[in-house]
Amino acid sequence: MSKILVTGGTGYIGSHTAIELIKSGHEVLIIDDLSNSKIEALDIIEKLSGKRPVFEQFKLRDSAKVDDFFEEYDIDAVIHFAASKAVGESVAFPMKYYKNNLVSLANVVDAMSVNNVKNIVFSSSATVYGQPDKLPATEETPILPAESPYGNTKQIGEEMLLDQTKASDTFTAIALRYFNPIGAHESGENGELPMGTPNNLMPFITQTAIGLRDELKIFGDDYNTPDGTAVRDYIHVVDIAKAHIKAVERMIDGKTESQFEVFNLGTGKGFSVKQVIESFEKTTGVNLNYSIAPRRIGDVEQIYASTEKANEILGWRADKTLDEMTLSAWKWEKHLKENK
Ligand code: WQD
Repeated sequence: MSKILVTGGTGYIGSHTAIELIKSGHEVLIIDDLSNSKIEALDIIEKLSGKRPVFEQFKLRDSAKVDDFFEEYDIDAVIHFAASKAVGESVAFPMKYYKNNLVSLANVVDAMSVNNVKNIVFSSSATVYGQPDKLPATEETPILPAESPYGNTKQIGEEMLLDQTKASDTFTAIALRYFNPIGAHESGENGELPMGTPNNLMPFITQTAIGLRDELKIFGDDYNTPDGTAVRDYIHVVDIAKAHIKAVERMIDGKTESQFEVFNLGTGKGFSVKQVIESFEKTTGVNLNYSIAPRRIGDVEQIYASTEKANEILGWRADKTLDEMTLSAWKWEKHLKENK
């Protein structure tokens, strides 16, 4: 059993990861400022995993608090989710993103080095690849200039960690580049909780289907894809969560091949917006109200992951289908309505 600090552990991916960590026998400690999540996530984690994590609410931008936390608890590894993640907002308020995503990361890494904590898993994003010339995107696919301050914080975050590995013989980091995490826990009791109007496709679909939104707008049907709508690599959030357990155990067990490793987390399959809608309608029996709208600025046409490296080196593979993703997202949306 290891003691794992999960920053952002009450959020969407963080809470699913906390559950899987506890189920794998680890002790979980969470820091979250609750700026984009609810305290009730702790009850859900406890219910679905059988154990309540240690929890402290503060901003990682507060370096004194971060230092105190690391002094108090004897942490073995950090999984760092805590970050702001709305692309559009990052364009309007770039400094919010640099402070929340990068000052925080610097504070965590500093506290780790002072307290001799060697291992960190970092939430990175497929957004670092932009629109690659060749698909699928491998970990060697060139990183393109970021399209948004949000994307830039993910690129710089990776570089900060790489620099820290060069400054220390023992500091080890694994950056996990997520493609498009969707879906919810199979119980239907944990899932994504968007504040306000969702930016992302899956919560917009489920909110439209349940009557919270009038209609879904498909952003563009004139892309160079089989049905004209944009293609992404959607991956079940519980599969993503399980990859974090593999990554953190790989570091703790001293199995990393270098001090800085990068893995794509995707399924290797691309689905179009229309295919996601079809899957949703088929698995739930609910017809979705939608129309075609202009392309969204900053969207790429298509991207999906090469999963070879994660399969072979991390020993992890996503095993949930698109139908399981859309159905579980619906189960969660209905659960939210019933428990309002
Ligand atoms: C998927 C597809 C949209 C909403 C973004 C970030 C990325 C990551 C995940 C983190 C696109 C289309 C969407 C809608 C639509 N960040 N769409 N109507 O843009 O691939 O990735 O979220 O948290 O860094 O860039 O995901 O879910 O927003 O969109 O047609 O109402 O659905 O145009 O083709 P995206 P998404």
